[in-house]
Amino acid sequence: MHHFEMRDGELFAEEVQVADLAAAHGTPLYVYSAATIRRHFDAFDSAFSGLDHLTCYSVKANSNVNVLRLMGEQGAGMDIVSGGELHRALTAGIPSGRIVYSGVGKRAEEIRAALEADILMFNVESLAELARINDIAGDMGRKARISFRINPDVDPKTHPYISTGMKKNKFGLDIEKSLEAYQLARDLPAIEPVGIDCHIGSQLTSINPFLEALDKILAFKARLDDMGLGIRHLDLGGGLGITYNEEEPPHPREFGEALTSRLKDMDLKVILEPGRVIVGNAGILVTQVVYLKETPSKRFVIVDAAMNDLIRPSLYNSYHRIGEVAAHDRPKAKVDVVGPICESGDFLARDRELPGLEQGEYLAVYSAGAYGFAMSSNYNSRPRAAEILVDGSTARVIRRRESYDDLVALEK
Ligand code: LLP
Repeated sequence: MHHFEMRDGELFAEEVQVADLAAAHGTPLYVYSAATIRRHFDAFDSAFSGLDHLTCYSVKANSNVNVLRLMGEQGAGMDIVSGGELHRALTAGIPSGRIVYSGVGKRAEEIRAALEADILMFNVESLAELARINDIAGDMGRKARISFRINPDVDPKTHPYISTGMKKNKFGLDIEKSLEAYQLARDLPAIEPVGIDCHIGSQLTSINPFLEALDKILAFKARLDDMGLGIRHLDLGGGLGITYNEEEPPHPREFGEALTSRLKDMDLKVILEPGRVIVGNAGILVTQVVYLKETPSKRFVIVDAAMNDLIRPSLYNSYHRIGEVAAHDRPKAKVDVVGPICESGDFLARDRELPGLEQGEYLAVYSAGAYGFAMSSNYNSRPRAAEILVDGSTARVIRRRESYDDLVALEK
């Protein structure tokens, strides 16, 4: 459910006409709906109301501070993976006691900044990282609260690049070796083991892999309890999928019920790290048709958004629905929608049935709110797009379009 809809043939973002935004701010243009973000956050968070829980939005999905602030106002915590994301979360006014820090390669200065901010906990992914956190916290006279990220060896049945909880992945600690890790951590002077963490992958469309992982984690927790190593935080990561095309992921309510029924009688604080399910369908990328081009084998629609703006189709071969901003009755044709970048991998859609488009018209690329702008780059020296946040009948530029001067500003 989102607040982008056609009214009398014109696309609206909440109460604002998308064509007007494109005309006023230019394209490519990211447009987000605040009502959708609030609604998705609330649907997800309230699905866990039966548990002592904290929903830590995964900043990497869409890290604009205004987007973070929206969720912060609803009581969200944040899942961060870098010093940059820590800076964004703090800038957005997120209380540090609601921040968890994941990632395999935390550098010393990033660890120091997180300790200084006094975040809720580090999700530790190796013994080398544990030793480093212990050293730095010791030097600072602090104690670091940590969870180990356990790799439960579960197949999340998603794209290989975004599967993270299988033995062959770089993430987490092997579940068999983790008991020793907790013993070690307990004896370190500047470490306080408070939790267990796991994140098995992204864009999951079934609950089963989550439950399979949870069963393994709970069995592991029972062994920790037996050793007198009681922990109170259980971080189950993110990963719940959304509908891009015809996927039918479980509703957050269903997901919440399934987890709640397994966890409700346990004395645990449950942490969740959703990203995509909150913001994915809360954003579109608006683009303009630059040229139409027909070769003997294909019809191309060349648009002004490219793989530097939205890399998901090129990188994961992922599907994003593309629709008209002003609808007309016209015959359909099968086309490739491509950007101006000098790579054949630069496409937004291939062999897609679309209405016979015209040069100059606007198109909306849907489900672009997660891992869209956040993964964008300046490749081909293309200034990054502007971002607009619509809230009811108001529209605000929350990141201005980059200029050519911005492109060279850091180069001496
Ligand atoms: N927690 C951790 C530790 C993660 O690594 C991730 C995502 C999340 C939470 C949030 O997962 P979500 O709820 O959004 O599925 N660029 C890819 C997705 C990469 C996900 C990386 N980790 C894409 O565009 O599909």
